[in-house]
Amino acid sequence: MFHVLALAAATVAYRVSPLHPLARFPGPAIHRCTSLKNAWVTSTGRRHLYIDALHQQYGRIVRIGPDALSINDSTAVGPIYAAANAMDKNASYTFGGAKGKGLFFMKEREEHNFRRRMWAGAFSEAKEWFEVLERRTLELQEVLQSRADADKCGVVDLRQALCHWTYDVMGDITFGNSSQVNMLRDGDPEDVILTGHLATIVLEVVGEIPSLFSLLWYLPAGEKMRALEQRAARWMAQRAAADPLDARQDIASYLLEKDESTGATLLGPDDLTADAILAVQAGSDTPAGILTYLFFFLLWHPNVHALLYRELFAAFPTADAPLLPRTLATLPYLDAVITETLRLGAPFHGLPRVVPPAGAALAGEFVPPGTTVSVPSWSRHLDPAHFGPDPLIFRPERWLDGSADRAALMTFSFGPFGCIGKPLAIAELQVCLVRTVLTYELAFAPSFDIAAFRAGALNIRTPVFRHPLRIMLSKRV
Ligand code: HEM
Repeated sequence: MFHVLALAAATVAYRVSPLHPLARFPGPAIHRCTSLKNAWVTSTGRRHLYIDALHQQYGRIVRIGPDALSINDSTAVGPIYAAANAMDKNASYTFGGAKGKGLFFMKEREEHNFRRRMWAGAFSEAKEWFEVLERRTLELQEVLQSRADADKCGVVDLRQALCHWTYDVMGDITFGNSSQVNMLRDGDPEDVILTGHLATIVLEVVGEIPSLFSLLWYLPAGEKMRALEQRAARWMAQRAAADPLDARQDIASYLLEKDESTGATLLGPDDLTADAILAVQAGSDTPAGILTYLFFFLLWHPNVHALLYRELFAAFPTADAPLLPRTLATLPYLDAVITETLRLGAPFHGLPRVVPPAGAALAGEFVPPGTTVSVPSWSRHLDPAHFGPDPLIFRPERWLDGSADRAALMTFSFGPFGCIGKPLAIAELQVCLVRTVLTYELAFAPSFDIAAFRAGALNIRTPVFRHPLRIMLSKRV
């Protein structure tokens, strides 16, 4: 025991001493000593606000951990994330305990490149997505009406319906006709959404202290995650047995690629399971959160809602007109509303990367090797130099009048680890938003408290909402 205490004391003494390679960077004393404070702040869902406040107090570069810097400077985005030789993910991406490894958790570059190439095939053609998106979105419209009819006050929790919709969409897009996911119809009796959400939160909070990962897997919280793992393994096995993979229609068909000489799948069952969970989870949870923000912002800003409806009605005058991708791509106000939501509705605090052995020059400073560095995207999204003088206001017009800089938007990150699902995500947002706005007149439920909803809108790597988005709807005539 004495030895452990002595070691802990020596570690802290070194971390706060002028001998530490990060000693010259400013920041609160607690962050020099331990990562525990970060883990706690992350668990509150307000880390993006906390980091932003630190930058306002200490400047562009802040020491936010014993070996970690947050760099609020646009010149650091390229070398950290976007360049071909961008930095690798740090240890927080090690999800110990899980048997297989999904693309997101691969830190070793060659291994990551190989797997990313397999995924990339699934995103090279978009045509099947729209069939799925249209079909599931029409189902969403029916479900919204039936849930409103079933409620004695005619109120629907739009947030919940959007979660069900994104899960169903991703079930279809990942597993094709073998999908077992039908939450719009059946709800979520097995708590898949909550479990996936929990896994993301655990990853983010415990990522601050990666050595805890393996332990957590075996605690009660890990039980649900093991259940999710088993369910995903079942889904993938059913998909593998379903039909020959020549149709190449769903994400699974690309992940189930076979070695031509042996006929065995290139990925083992555990890695297939891990990627199946990743596809459904990554494609559902964050898009559902962004969609929730989209509808919240629209209902909160009736003038924006009206302008959007006018543009959509002109493009799709009949209720059942197909939402052709080429028409959607020509609608400037739709694009502005979505992009503005991606700016304000994805408050990430900064994705952690590790400085390579040679060190790096970042924002005009030499940063020593092994340092964890991140650029806080929430703070970047509030920079008046890139988004105009009123960055906290939801104002889609900034994307039309030239006051916002598209290249400065960090929502999907960039480069080798950037979001591979971005085109699908945009299609999800477009189709769901457009069809719903064209079908229904929407309004907040009378009891809905805008201030409470905003205060309970948090972020733990993905949007987290403490309160339901309670709305009322009536069919447009
Ligand atoms: C609006 C919705 C979405 C947002 C804001 C978003 C954002 C991001 C971000 C910021 C990353 C990088 C994370 C990191 O480096 O830690 C990422 C990675 C990823 N995203 Fe998305 N995403 C969205 C939708 C999707 C969809 C629809 C899919 C489809 C399956 C998807 C699949 C992935 C995958 C597989 C990765 C890991 C990529 C890699 O490591 O190479 N995402 N996403």
